[in-house]
Amino acid sequence: MRAMIALLALAVLLGVVWAGVGLAGQRTLFGIVIPYVAIAVFLVGMVYRVLLWAGAPVPFRIPTVCGQQRSLPWMRRDPLESPSGTLEAVGRMAGEILLFRSLFRNTRVGLKGSDRVVYHSEKLLWLAALAFHWSFLIIFVRHLRLFLDPTPSFVHLIEVVDGFFQLSVPVFFLSGGLILVALLYLLGRRLLDAQVRYISLPTDYFALFLLIGVVVSGIFMRYITKVDLLKVKELSVGLTTFRPALPEGIGLPFYIHLFLVSLLFIYFPFSKLVHMGGVFLSPTRNLANNNRNRRHINPWNPEVEVHTYAQWEEEFRDKLEASGIPLDGK
Ligand code: HEM
Repeated sequence: MRAMIALLALAVLLGVVWAGVGLAGQRTLFGIVIPYVAIAVFLVGMVYRVLLWAGAPVPFRIPTVCGQQRSLPWMRRDPLESPSGTLEAVGRMAGEILLFRSLFRNTRVGLKGSDRVVYHSEKLLWLAALAFHWSFLIIFVRHLRLFLDPTPSFVHLIEVVDGFFQLSVPVFFLSGGLILVALLYLLGRRLLDAQVRYISLPTDYFALFLLIGVVVSGIFMRYITKVDLLKVKELSVGLTTFRPALPEGIGLPFYIHLFLVSLLFIYFPFSKLVHMGGVFLSPTRNLANNNRNRRHINPWNPEVEVHTYAQWEEEFRDKLEASGIPLDGK
């Protein structure tokens, strides 16, 4: 039911672009206005979210660790699991962002028989997540050829490596196939696994459907309907240089792809996809664990008025002396 709601939302949005471009011919709206709005919403939304996170108080060190922190010199420590300085924390973050280390260790709890709890390793989720994110990055960088004139040489290099197997004409890009397989696995996992299905919301499905829509429309356009890339480049370079122009002869499939990409950008800052920025600001990940080395004092603790023993003794000095009780102060 929740998946159906998300699918329906995407179908309605596809209907909007089909009616807007196919029937009403609103190419300027879908080719220029909406992409600009999408980029603006994305940038403002991301800056807003990052400022919100950056302004959140983190008075103490709260890293989640699973290794021995720096302590006595003869104790073996684990610099990556429990970093004690900035450089080690950067190393830990790099493992997290580039290789998803903590997801690699993710386990899944289940029952063996009726009463034995067992933990399984779940490497497939890690693999699919890694395949999806890396493919997305590669596709994103490859798309720069549509926006930059001349195309930078590293983009050509990535294209050559990504199209290494030369399986078709036009050349089949591995990242395009891989991202689709990974997304379908992530969707299948939500739909078929009862536990994951139970905690999945329509927004979880919507993000996946939207990404699948972007990828499928791109693949469809590249390998089946074809598109005049020179005209697309004219449009894209026009958009990036703020001299937008709409060349004639770009078909509906391109507008569908562009509209879905625009929706993704608009949706991004307000959805769970925003973890792309959030992971960098996560205090449980990016802080060094030096709690035994340094005392961290909450900077905005109010001044606490204390009455020390010395003050108390001074206050009652005459009475204490009179009763013969020994005094600390002379
Ligand atoms: C989040 C951003 C985007 C993603 C994930 C994405 C994804 C894809 C994918 C998977 C393909 C299939 C071919 C390949 O693997 O490269 C493709 C093709 C294509 N995309 Fe995108 N796309 C994105 C943004 C855009 C934008 C902003 C444009 C607008 C200019 C665009 C225009 C095209 C065109 C023209 C093709 C066909 C390329 C060809 O025939 O070689 N895409 N896209």
